[in-house]
Amino acid sequence: MDIRNKTVIVTGGGTGIGRALVLAFAQAGARGVAVADIDHAGAAQVAAEAVAVAPDCKLFAQRVDVADADAVQGLVDVATERFGQVDIFCSNAGIILRKGLDASAAEWQRIWEINVMAHIHAAKAVLPQMLERGDGYFINTVSAAGLLSQIGSAPYAVTKHAAIGFAEWLSITYGDRGIKVSCICPQGVQTKMLFGESGERKGFLQEGSVTAEHVAAKTLEGVASESFLILPHPEVLEYYRRKGQDYDRWLRGMRRLHDQVTQTFGDIAV
Ligand SMILES: NC(=O)c1ccc[n+]([C@@H]2O[C@H](COP(=O)([O-])OP(=O)(O)OC[C@H]3O[C@@H](n4cnc5c(N)ncnc54)[C@H](O)[C@@H]3O)[C@@H](O)[C@H]2O)c1
Repeated sequence: MDIRNKTVIVTGGGTGIGRALVLAFAQAGARGVAVADIDHAGAAQVAAEAVAVAPDCKLFAQRVDVADADAVQGLVDVATERFGQVDIFCSNAGIILRKGLDASAAEWQRIWEINVMAHIHAAKAVLPQMLERGDGYFINTVSAAGLLSQIGSAPYAVTKHAAIGFAEWLSITYGDRGIKVSCICPQGVQTKMLFGESGERKGFLQEGSVTAEHVAAKTLEGVASESFLILPHPEVLEYYRRKGQDYDRWLRGMRRLHDQVTQTFGDIAV
């Protein structure tokens, strides 16, 4: 899809990958970008930054908890009213929980709602108008954890696999009716999620991590070619192939990696 003159919603746009996506879309010629985040101040700041670099792009910020279906519908309604239509929904907001079997049921529920249900709320809210036009794009920020796994975080590994599962289903069901779907699947990205609020965290994915701007640039390329998988770390494709080729061998390798990583960084190593 050609981004020029398109209208976009980005969730989790107040910082990190979402912020970089907002700036990249605005600079690539999008006509309008809605910056949604549970942190309204962050979203407003990013909208202001984008106006400064792309004065022709219409921007607005809205506080939205993506786990709330009504709030996501409200966001789509406001964006449709302001822009006329929503061409691209970037479902980017996500959280990590660095726990295994110690995660409580309530914690599982919350990460499920943000990392999985939010994509479903987005599709329910915006798909009808896209189907009517026979054109639209869902870009879901998932993770390489959705294709491979996440050492140290069962809820992240599980919810990111589910997010890929839903995106595949969307593409299979609606792809022939003009609906495009991409999943952004990076490994480490230099944001607060990986490095902590002030860069204090240490973890094995920091080595080889890329900037959020790199992820956004790769996303623009992936949108131009309408590729389902957007892989800012190209080696992820090879790891994914190896998993498919010999699952048991791949699991043995992952156990070795798990041991190395936990010896170096402790239990919560992601
Ligand atoms: N940083 C990485 O290493 C990495 C790697 C692969 C995938 N990802 C994925 O990329 C996406 C963005 O991550 P990031 O690294 O920019 O994270 P981040 O924590 O830096 O930013 C996430 C943003 O989402 C917002 N958010 C969180 N919960 C929300 C909710 N319920 N409703 C609305 N907004 C909410 C936060 O306020 C924040 O602005 C996530 O889906 C994450 O899982 C990150």
